[in-house]
Amino acid sequence: MLILGIETSCDDTGVALVEVNKKGTPRVLLNFMSSQVKIHSRYGGVVPYLAAREHERNLPLLIGRILKEYRQLTVADLIVVTIGPGLAPSLLIGTTAAKLLSYFWQKTIIGVSHLEGHLFSPFLNEIFKRPLLKFPFLCLLVSGGHTELVVVRGIGEYSVLGRTLDDACGEAFDKVARLLGLAYPGGPKIEKLAQNYASHLNEKLLFKPPMINSGDFNFSYSGLKTAVLYKIKSDKSKSRLKPKSDYIAWHFQEAALRPLVKKTLLAAKNFQIRSIIVAGGVSNNNRLKQLFEHQIRQDHIDAQVFFPDKILTQDNAAMIAYAGYLNYIRRGEKGDSLDKIQSNPNLDLGGA
Ligand code: KG4
Ligand code: ZN
Repeated sequence: MLILGIETSCDDTGVALVEVNKKGTPRVLLNFMSSQVKIHSRYGGVVPYLAAREHERNLPLLIGRILKEYRQLTVADLIVVTIGPGLAPSLLIGTTAAKLLSYFWQKTIIGVSHLEGHLFSPFLNEIFKRPLLKFPFLCLLVSGGHTELVVVRGIGEYSVLGRTLDDACGEAFDKVARLLGLAYPGGPKIEKLAQNYASHLNEKLLFKPPMINSGDFNFSYSGLKTAVLYKIKSDKSKSRLKPKSDYIAWHFQEAALRPLVKKTLLAAKNFQIRSIIVAGGVSNNNRLKQLFEHQIRQDHIDAQVFFPDKILTQDNAAMIAYAGYLNYIRRGEKGDSLDKIQSNPNLDLGGA
């Protein structure tokens, strides 16, 4: 079965073609993305109207590229599109295009949550790095827009254990990067700076990891960002020198990542779940991987953590296509009617 995925929820335009064989094993045939980083970097974040304008320009080009490379695309059996959450003007471009294709090609269409795409993204990894699709699993979804800890009991059966009360984790990386004079997206740049800092063993933390002992599964990042701001200001006024960016980046990164690891492993223990998936842009972070490995070893935790391949950590349409396929199968091979496909910028995963 051939599935066409379309993703335009934020600032990356994605079109992908995924094939699923009779055993249900997926294979990514094409996964095209068009990044808008250059356009938004000068504003320090995504500008919704500009993002939509870029989707309007790039989406037809990417669909055209797929058609060129895959001549029999009109036999794609299923069209899947992200309906939310995301930026309203961006979502409208993707849903409109997908509905038109479905209408003219007379193909089944399904709308899915962008978050659902991330939840199942590592199941598209290179085959030897792929987890088995077995329920329940736990998913820590950490991106520029989301920080959620979710128990996945089946397709469409999600319980959100906790989420950020204010900024998302990736957003905090981006804001702190800006304070340090670095361009958007800040996550990879902060990670690189932090790697330059030679920390001591058991180095005392400069910033308190927010909510690390809160006893629930929620997160918070706006206070941490403010603490970093004050530290930079006071360093500047004392020394008139450039703040020590690598030192600040390391300490910020530790404070930002440790609550993620602690709470995810606590949830795994409390709910007796042995498979953990970490997805979204922040799952690229190597220190996050290291912290998970270290904690699992130290506490002898019987759990395995899976990360998506790099191309699948960021927003992409292959993960959307696969999430759509899983929903299609769960519903007894039924899609959505065209009038049911409506974008919803605030679409929730559901449950709590
Ligand atoms: O999933 P994604 O591509 O888009 C959203 O849905 O938000 O995630 C982008 C976010 C940005 O905030 C970026 O700074 C962050 O992921 N990010 C990282 C790293 N790579 C990307 N954060 C920390 N460390 C990284 N290596
Ligand atoms: Zn995303």
